[in-house]
This record gives sequence, structure tokens and C-alpha cells, in this order.
Amino acid sequence: MKKNGTNNETNNELNSEVLDREAWNSFMLLYNSAIKEVYTKVEVLNDEFKHVHRYNPIEYVKTRIKTPESIEKKLKRNGYDLTIENMTEYVNDIAGIRIVCSFTSDIYMIADMVGKQNDITVISVKDYIKNPKRSGYKSYHMIVTVPIFLSDRKVDVKVEVQIRTIAMDFWASLEHKIYYKFEGNAPEYISKDLRECSAIVSMLDAKMLSLNEAILEAKNEDDDVKKNNTLTDTRNVV
Ligand code: GTP
Ligand code: MG
Repeated sequence: MKKNGTNNETNNELNSEVLDREAWNSFMLLYNSAIKEVYTKVEVLNDEFKHVHRYNPIEYVKTRIKTPESIEKKLKRNGYDLTIENMTEYVNDIAGIRIVCSFTSDIYMIADMVGKQNDITVISVKDYIKNPKRSGYKSYHMIVTVPIFLSDRKVDVKVEVQIRTIAMDFWASLEHKIYYKFEGNAPEYISKDLRECSAIVSMLDAKMLSLNEAILEAKNEDDDVKKNNTLTDTRNVV
């Protein structure tokens, strides 16, 4: 499992003078710890899966911590003051982890495995694969909490988990660039092309999944033939 584009140790500088620096640093420590916890859990699941099934469901994982400017913007947009309490309560994506898989079926399997972990609480789920956004965006989102054990207390910290295929990720990163380029107001012909690309992504994902299933089936048949041949050989020897 490749770790990609991690920037969770950077960009944590507080620009605003409104918040107490010590409180801010402790707050960021919690979210950095939460990302490490969830990342390790995902890594363990992937390793175990590889060990048992000889198959690697995760292509790569990216983590990020929301910048202070972006947290401030989100609070303001939603009409909240810049306080630690409001950030904790109303900003669900301060810590983010993106899990990129090969196949759509991997997405649901991983979501299930993450959700079943005893110490993880699933707060909410948005399935933008079954119900894509108008833009054509597809991904499976979960907001979870993970307990962080400090010297004197335990804090449940929220993490946004996004799970998608490589093809969905490819689409989302291009769409994201276009969104920024046009500040959210892309010309209609571009939005239309993006929606068409999103439909192609779905077709590609479906085709790749059925190809992979065909490969697995052919491999199982091969293994059966080899097993039967071995049995025949043994009987011959006896
Ligand atoms: P945000 O305020 O953007 O965080 O959205 P939200 O709190 O309503 O949650 P939602 O589940 O809709 O989106 C969470 C995240 O998913 C965003 O921050 C993006 O990273 C990603 N996302 C959602 N919609 C789109 C989209 O149309 N295009 C792309 N590229 N990413 C999206
Ligand atoms: Mg967000």
C-alpha cells in the first residue's frame, strides 16, 4: 500500500490571532493522531487481506489535515465564530483520509471492514457511488470517530474517510482543478464533458470489475485442473 501526498504534518500554522496558540496546537495534535490511527488500521486491513487472500485491495492512501484558513472559511460560510468548540462540532473534515482501490467491490468491502472495527464509530455515510453528485462526482464517504488516548483523558476525534476507485479518483482530481480554475463557475460545455467522463468512469469501473472476475474464474479453473492432475498422478503411483 503506497502512502501518497501526505501533508498532515505541515500547514498547521495558525494565522488568526483569535485563538490561543496552545489550545490550537493541542487541537491539531488530536487530529494528526486520529489520522495516524486510521491510517494504521487501514494498513493492517490491507496487509491481512493480502496475506489471507493473496490480493491487495488498496492501491494507495492519501491523508491531509485541513488548513487553518480553510477551517476558518468553512466556519464563516456556515455562520459560526472561529472557536475550537465550533471547529470540533461543525467541521467534520479537519482530518481526512482517502483510500483508493482498484475495483468498486473493494470500496464496499473496505467500508464494511472499517465500520466493523470496535473502537471506530460511524457517524454518517454518504454513498455518492449509488447517488452521484450533479457534477458527476462519485465516491463513498464516511465520517467516523476514533478514540485518542492522551495522558489524562480520551477524546473521540472525527475523521472523514473517502473511498473510491482509481478511475473515480482520476476524475475527481481533474474536476477539482477545473472547479478551482473557474472558481466554481465552469462553462456549461466543460461541466457537460465532465458529466460524460463520469459516465465513462462508471463504464470503465464495471468493465474492469467483470474482467477481474473473469481472470479469477479462469485462475480457479486452472487451479482445479492442476489439483485433479495431481490426484490422478497420485492414484497412478499407488
Ligand atoms: P465540503 O463542505 O466540501 O467538505 O462538503 P460537505 O461537508 O457537504 O461534504 P461532502 O460529502 O459533500 O464533500 C466532502 C468532500 O468530498 C469535499 O471536501 C471534496 O473533497 C469531495 N467532493 C464532494 N463533492 C465533490 C465534487 O463535486 N468534486 C470533487 N472533485 N470533489 C468533491
Ligand atoms: Mg471537505
